[in-house]
Amino acid sequence: MVPCMTTLFSEYRLRDVTFKNRIAVSPMSQYRAKNGHANDWHMVHLGRFAMGGAGLVYAEATAVTKDGRRTHGDLGLWDDAHIDALRPIAAFLQAEGAVPGIQLGHAGRKASEKRPWDGETPVDQDDIAQRGEAPWTAIAPSAIPYADGWPAPTEMTEAEIAAVIDAFGQAARRSAEAGFKIIEVYAAHGFLVHQFLSPIANQRADQWGGSLENRTRFAVEVARAIRAHWPDTLPLAFRLSATDWLDGGLEIEDTIHITRALQAVGVDMIDVSTGGVGGKERPRRMTIEQGFQVPFAKQVKAKTDVATMAVGFLWDPQHCAAIIDDGHADMVALARELLDDPNWPLHAAAQMNVDENHGLWPIESGWWLMKRDRLLAKLGLR
Ligand SMILES: Cc1cc2nc3c(=O)[nH]c(=O)nc-3n(C[C@H](O)[C@H](O)[C@H](O)COP(=O)(O)O)c2cc1C
Repeated sequence: MVPCMTTLFSEYRLRDVTFKNRIAVSPMSQYRAKNGHANDWHMVHLGRFAMGGAGLVYAEATAVTKDGRRTHGDLGLWDDAHIDALRPIAAFLQAEGAVPGIQLGHAGRKASEKRPWDGETPVDQDDIAQRGEAPWTAIAPSAIPYADGWPAPTEMTEAEIAAVIDAFGQAARRSAEAGFKIIEVYAAHGFLVHQFLSPIANQRADQWGGSLENRTRFAVEVARAIRAHWPDTLPLAFRLSATDWLDGGLEIEDTIHITRALQAVGVDMIDVSTGGVGGKERPRRMTIEQGFQVPFAKQVKAKTDVATMAVGFLWDPQHCAAIIDDGHADMVALARELLDDPNWPLHAAAQMNVDENHGLWPIESGWWLMKRDRLLAKLGLR
């Protein structure tokens, strides 16, 4: 076997945290939490990815305030009482060799939404009747509804802005207490931090809106608040939508500016996604194909010296390896492919001849698979 000389399986370091490879599990909301609390579902959902060889496992979008949840099933860290259920999950991920990460977010005007399989429309009387789940009023930078048929959110006051920024800081403290080693702020896909960044959702005339610098202020203050409560030894990432794909929205040049402003206040990595702010319709400019967001990660990496993560419609190990080897990003994140195959990193390693005899697998599986392979080879079956 000639090992493939890819850096996909090389270590990567941010601050005092070492990732054993460049493969991250992208945050994936499960809509399974009860009043924000994690449970066995989250342990098994996330744990299988650590057993499957990922270098970084992100827990899903976790609300920093109760009203900042997107759905009634979102995870939360708005209360110290949420820490206990997350602690064993972070510990398990770490024990299995993955860096435990958590994504912190606030849904803003996308709050009070039905789960995807219930339609992703605003929570209504049916939800009260079926599950006792009542709608609530969302807050946002401006009183502009997310999409047609959505209620207008309440424009945030100065006090509400300060309270949400503080909530990010408190949630960061709780993340550290739970044992997470990297935080990603959900500043993409049309959620609150993105709503402040994008002129599509932010039409304020005060210090929080208008110029790009003003629109970036909320994200910067969120990063500052987190850094005040999050150890210097641990990395902080932001997921940005590098473009809104809409005329009059954020473009990659804006994202470069935002990235530099975030880096100046202690952000180490940008997870480069796109879109999500302009309602339900897919923007005309947006074409989805394999790795369609990688060029944005490449530009962020080329024009700043921040670490980057590429994400979006990635599944082919050779392609992922090329993204890292060609210097387009420092890590890759996968979501749906990992739902299909939680062992994708281990299978990719085998395919690229960097895992002899299942040595990268947990020994409880690897030992048996090694013996099975020897038997298959002896019998001439494989
Ligand atoms: C089940 C599911 C839940 C998701 N939840 C989140 C989330 O909580 N936070 C987030 O930033 N993105 C979320 N996403 C988007 C993914 O993280 C990822 O960016 C997107 O699916 C594209 O990657 P993929 O093509 O590998 O699936 C979710 C995607 C899926 C499939």
